[in-house]
Amino acid sequence: MNKIALVTGAYKGLGFEWVRQLAKDGYTVYLTARSLEKAQKAVDQLEKEGFKAIPKALDVTNEEELSHLASEIENEYGHIDLIVNNAGINSKDDPDKSVFMKSFRLQDLDAGEVLRHIHVNGIAPVLVVKHFKALLEKSEKPVVVNISSWLGSIAKKDFGGHYGYATSKAALNMMNKAMALEIKQYGITSIVLNPGWVQTDMGGSKAPLTAEQSVRSTIDKVLNTITLEQTGEFFQWDGTPHPW
Ligand SMILES: NC(=O)c1ccc[n+]([C@@H]2O[C@H](COP(=O)([O-])OP(=O)(O)OC[C@H]3O[C@@H](n4cnc5c(N)ncnc54)[C@H](OP(=O)(O)O)[C@@H]3O)[C@@H](O)[C@H]2O)c1
Repeated sequence: MNKIALVTGAYKGLGFEWVRQLAKDGYTVYLTARSLEKAQKAVDQLEKEGFKAIPKALDVTNEEELSHLASEIENEYGHIDLIVNNAGINSKDDPDKSVFMKSFRLQDLDAGEVLRHIHVNGIAPVLVVKHFKALLEKSEKPVVVNISSWLGSIAKKDFGGHYGYATSKAALNMMNKAMALEIKQYGITSIVLNPGWVQTDMGGSKAPLTAEQSVRSTIDKVLNTITLEQTGEFFQWDGTPHPW
């Protein structure tokens, strides 16, 4: 059976590389982005490299869009084998630094900004699975990879502040554990993954890893070896377990 994958936030960065590597491995991949135009441009770029992907518009916080896309994929392929919940925000990337400060340091702390991170990074990945669960159940070996971060590890937290992003990824880790144990009975494996520090718009140019190194290693050492018994766990891009 043709393997079907969906990647969120995929017109650039790690998401784009996930689509490229999965296409290389023979998956039929839905490349989703908030803007259909950006998704289409990314697909055009991949086509120049000899890879195919299907562009779709998807804001991961929008349940109407999630429901609509699930119906489309149901009609087109009838199942889904892999979801990469990659879309994420980090307000350090906001050109207005006062926005970053609202979720970074105590004196500027703003509940709305922290909640915005938790919504996009922590809750939306589970909403995605809520809408695609029926399609995942039709796969022989359904897997969900949720892109977390070492910054979501409470055990490894060694500097103050960064409330919004760090808390949102810790929330993702728990949201996933709760979901993974609930849906294990349907044969769905769902893990959280630290991709490492990667050269993207979010990671910056000083990061030690390229997106290709991070994603290729994750596919070879995590995705291709994972079992249902490991559902809910927190992995690193090199296949080792990540401290909670
Ligand atoms: N790079 C690193 O070193 C690193 C380390 C640890 C974890 N991560 C995680 O890896 C993932 C990918 O990050 P990246 O480094 O590739 O950063 P990136 O280049 O900034 O990509 C983030 C992507 O998420 C999309 N996005 C944001 N909000 C969305 C929404 N509501 N719906 C759909 N898409 C949305 C963005 O689209 P727009 O342009 O439309 O906003 C963008 O395509 C994120 O979850 C990030 O937290 C990255």
